[in-house]
Amino acid sequence: MGVLALVVMTAAAAEYNVVGYGARPGGREDSAPAFLAACNYTGRSAPVVRVPAGTFLVSRAYFGGPCRSAAGVVVAVDGTVVAPAAVDSTTQTLDISQSNNVSVRRLTLLNSKNVHLAIFDCTGVTLRGVRIAAPADSPNTDGVHVQLSRGVRVLGATVGTGDDCVSLGPGTSNVLVRNIRCGPGHGISIGSLGGDAAGEAPVRNVTVEGAALTGTQNGMRIKTWGRPNRGLVAGVSFARVTMRGVRNPAVVDQNYCPSNVNCPGESSGVKISGVEYADIEGTSATPVAVRFDCSGSNPCTRITLKNINLTYEGKPAKSFCKYAHGLAAGVVRPPSCLSS
Ligand SMILES: *[C@@H]1O[C@H](CO)[C@@H](O)[C@H](O)[C@H]1NC(C)=O
Ligand SMILES: *[C@@H]1O[C@H](CO)[C@@H](O)[C@H](O)[C@H]1NC(C)=O
Ligand SMILES: *[C@@H]1O[C@H](CO)[C@@H](O)[C@H](O)[C@H]1NC(C)=O
Ligand SMILES: *[C@@H]1O[C@H](CO)[C@@H](O)[C@H](O)[C@H]1NC(C)=O
Repeated sequence: MGVLALVVMTAAAAEYNVVGYGARPGGREDSAPAFLAACNYTGRSAPVVRVPAGTFLVSRAYFGGPCRSAAGVVVAVDGTVVAPAAVDSTTQTLDISQSNNVSVRRLTLLNSKNVHLAIFDCTGVTLRGVRIAAPADSPNTDGVHVQLSRGVRVLGATVGTGDDCVSLGPGTSNVLVRNIRCGPGHGISIGSLGGDAAGEAPVRNVTVEGAALTGTQNGMRIKTWGRPNRGLVAGVSFARVTMRGVRNPAVVDQNYCPSNVNCPGESSGVKISGVEYADIEGTSATPVAVRFDCSGSNPCTRITLKNINLTYEGKPAKSFCKYAHGLAAGVVRPPSCLSS
């Protein structure tokens, strides 16, 4: 169904087929022990761990080594890997943690019970042509979630889920999302940030270019808790984004306080500075297409709007600003309400 490649192989590769280690196609017997046994190699040339055509049930496989080589390891999935129906709802389908230089190509992830693909504490992860699908009403089924990671690229993804298509948590930097199709779902999200009283590592240098969002709850969202916990979002660019029937096409919400518990009336300690929106067009499903609801104690600064054309039911949409500073250039519809 796809190829998960961890680093490019260089030397002629030895191949380890999971069937040779006892995996049984048919999707009834747990093949997890066989997957782990196949990935049990230490050497110089890059091994290929192959999952052949067929359906393999895997309860839980944690590849934490041994299975290493200086030239990298390739996991090639021709078949389908399924989880037990009873897997608990905190389990993520594919979790890449504490790994460097990981490449995932043409992988399809379906119906996760939680995040589909989580990237945690990694440097250098590239996803190419990943497809993710789950029902629109499935809770917490983020497509790709990135946290505490640097140098992450999501290229040519197609994501439809019941939560964010891509979510970027604290401590993410140098992220590029290019040519993504998103919907249904909650859109492309930075946050929630500011949930940790001890403070959080900043989110820096995020570029989203070339995105098509259809029927999503949000388009491009930055969300922080309405609490004084400190944090920073700096250097974000959203460019060439098309919206079709998106409820909140561009939104900064610094007053996130679900059920109004423990935070009403508090002000976010997360500073948001340097966010550019350029060449954004399409339709909003609500009258307010651009909403900057920033923090009274940490106003948003250096927001730029450039060539924006968002309409609502064929009519002009509206914008809303609170504690939001920046500039507009080119044709900006709805008109900017940023203060200088
Ligand atoms: C990996 O190989 C070693 C040595 O052959 C063996 O003792 C160990 O049980 C193997 N681990 C797995 C998960 O099969
Ligand atoms: C990751 O790739 C970079 C650039 O190709 C290289 O400099 C670095 O050594 C690699 N890191 C690891 C752990 O392989
Ligand atoms: C910002 O991130 C991009 C990857 O999207 C990277 O190429 C670039 O070097 C980063 N810029 C800085 C100043 O780190
Ligand atoms: C804005 O979009 C509407 C509908 O999508 C289109 O009719 C209109 O010509 C566009 N305006 C500009 C200035 O591009």
